[in-house]
Amino acid sequence: MNKKYIIFNWKMNFTVSESIEFSNNIIKSLANLKNKNIEIIVCPTFMSLPYCYQILSSIVKLGAQNISHTDHEYGSYTGEISAKMISDYAEYVILGHSERRIFLNEGNSIINTKRLFSIKNNIKPIVCIGESIDIRNSGKHIHFLENQIKECIDSDYEDKIVAYEPVWAIGSGENCDLGKVEEISKLTKSILGNDTLFIYGGSVNKDNIHSYLSSSSIDGVLIGSASLDKNSIEEMLNIIDANS
Ligand code: PGA
Repeated sequence: MNKKYIIFNWKMNFTVSESIEFSNNIIKSLANLKNKNIEIIVCPTFMSLPYCYQILSSIVKLGAQNISHTDHEYGSYTGEISAKMISDYAEYVILGHSERRIFLNEGNSIINTKRLFSIKNNIKPIVCIGESIDIRNSGKHIHFLENQIKECIDSDYEDKIVAYEPVWAIGSGENCDLGKVEEISKLTKSILGNDTLFIYGGSVNKDNIHSYLSSSSIDGVLIGSASLDKNSIEEMLNIIDANS
C-alpha cells in the first residue's frame, strides 16, 4: 500500500505552554506507531511551531496553517509571517482552509500566490478545497470544486497535495461518505494527475479513519477536533496499527 498521510490541524488552539505539554503527552503514542508507512504532520499555531518542532521533529513532520501572501522574506508587512520564516520548522503548510476562505475572505488567486511562495521556500503546500452545503444540495459541487482546483493549483508542479474538506463536514460530526470522497479524488486526479496526493478532511475520528485510509484513492486524512485530544490520537493510531 502507498504511504498515507495524517495531518493534525490544531487551528487556533493551545497556548505555547499548552502545546508543549500536549506534545510531551502525545510523543509516546506517536513514537510507538508501528506502521512506518504513515507520515504524520502536526500543524500548530505559528507561535507554538518552534516549540513543537523541538519536541516532535524527530518523530513527525511539522506544518504551518498559513503564510503571508507577500513575496518577500522580510519587509514592512505588519503582522505577516513569511514562508521563509516558517521554513526552519515547517515542511508543509495548509493553504486555503475554508475557515480562512470564509472568515478572512481568501480567494483562489491569493491561495495560488501563497502556494507559489511556499514552493519557492521548499515548503509543500496542502491546498484545501470544499463546497458548502448549499452548493452540494444544488448539485453544482463538481463544477465548483473543479474551479477551485484549477484556480488554486497548476498541474505542472510536483508535490501537489489537495485536501478535500467539504465545509459541511468540518467540525460537524457529519463526515462525508467514502463514495463521495472517492468521486472527488477521481475528479482531482483527472485534473492534476495521478501523482497528486489526495487527502480527506471533515469530522475524521477513530470510528471512520480506517475506512478512509484503506481506500486506494485516498492518500491521507486531515484531522481537526480529534487531533486535540490525547486519547483520541492514541485510539486512532492503535486502529491504524491493528489494521496494518
Ligand atoms: P474537523 O476539522 O476534523 O474538526 O472536522 C477538520 C479541518 O477543518 O481541518
